Amino acid sequence: MKPVLQLDDVTFRRDSKQIIGGISLTVNEGEHWALLGPNGAGKSTLLGFCGAVTFPSSGSVRILGERMGRTDLAELRRSIGHINPRHRRQHPRTLREVVLTGITGTNDLPLRRTPTTEDVERAEAMLDTVGLSRISDSVWPTLSQGERGRTLISRALISGPRLLLLDEPSTGLDVAAREQLLATIDSLGEAHPDVASILVTHHLEELPSTTTHALLIAEGRTVASGAALETVNTENVTAAFSHPVQVGYHDGRWTARANATRMEV
Ligand SMILES: Nc1ncnc2c1ncn2[C@@H]1O[C@H](COP(=O)(O)OP(=O)(O)O)[C@@H](O)[C@H]1O
Ligand SMILES: [Mg+2]
Repeated sequence: MKPVLQLDDVTFRRDSKQIIGGISLTVNEGEHWALLGPNGAGKSTLLGFCGAVTFPSSGSVRILGERMGRTDLAELRRSIGHINPRHRRQHPRTLREVVLTGITGTNDLPLRRTPTTEDVERAEAMLDTVGLSRISDSVWPTLSQGERGRTLISRALISGPRLLLLDEPSTGLDVAAREQLLATIDSLGEAHPDVASILVTHHLEELPSTTTHALLIAEGRTVASGAALETVNTENVTAAFSHPVQVGYHDGRWTARANATRMEV
C-alpha cells in the first residue's frame, strides 16, 4: 500500500491559541477516511494541511511522498481534488464548462485556452460517472445544491487526482439529494479504485458506506483513529462530542442517537 498523505504530529497555533495540538494520520491509496468531530474541533484546519493550502505551525506534511515546504505547492495541489459545495461561481457556465475548469484548476475557464475535443469528451465521461451527463448543457445557477455537489466531484476527478477532500459535502441537502450524493461517492471506487479520500462531517448519518477508516478529533486532538468499524462506536463518539451518543451500524451505514441530558464531568 502506498501512502498518499502523511501527517506527522502536526500542530496549528493562531493568536496564542492552540487549534491543532499534535495529530498524525497516514492515508493510503484506495482508503476512504471520515474525519469526525464537533463544530470547532479543527476539522477544516486539518483538511487545509491535507490539501497543501495551509502550513502547520510544527510537524510535517507529506503528500505523495513530497514534503510540503520543500516542493512546488501548485504541483502538489494538482494531485488533490478539493471539493467545496458552497463554492460560488461568477458566470453562468454550463456543467460541462464547470467540469472543464478542473483541468486547469481555475475558478473560471481561461480565455486563451480552447478545450480540445478530447477534453470535452473527458468532461462528459466525468459527468457520466456522477450521473449528470443528461444535463451537461444546463447552467450552474439552475442546478440544485445536490447536483452542484456532484458536478464539483466530477470537476475534481477530471485532473486525475490521487486524493479527494470533501468538507461537509451534504450540508444543506434534503434527504434525497444527500442520498444521491452519498451514492455518487460510493460509486467512485469502481471507476477510480486508487483514489483516496477524506470526508469531513459532524453527522454520522452522512458517512458513505464505502468509508474504510475514521479519525475522530476534539479540541484539535485525536480521540480515536483506525478502521471505521472499530473506531466509529458509542464510546469514541461519546468522548469526541463530550456528550452521550448511542452509535448504531446497519447495512453499511451509521446512526447516532444523542441523549437529551449532558454527560457528568
Ligand atoms: N486562521 C485562524 N485564525 C484563528 N482561529 C482560527 C483560524 N482557523 C480556525 N480557527 C479556529 O480554530 C478552531 C477550529 O476551526 P475549524 O478547523 O474550522 O473547525 P471545524 O471545521 O472542526 O468546525 C475554531 O475555534 C476556529 O474559530
Ligand atoms: Mg469546518
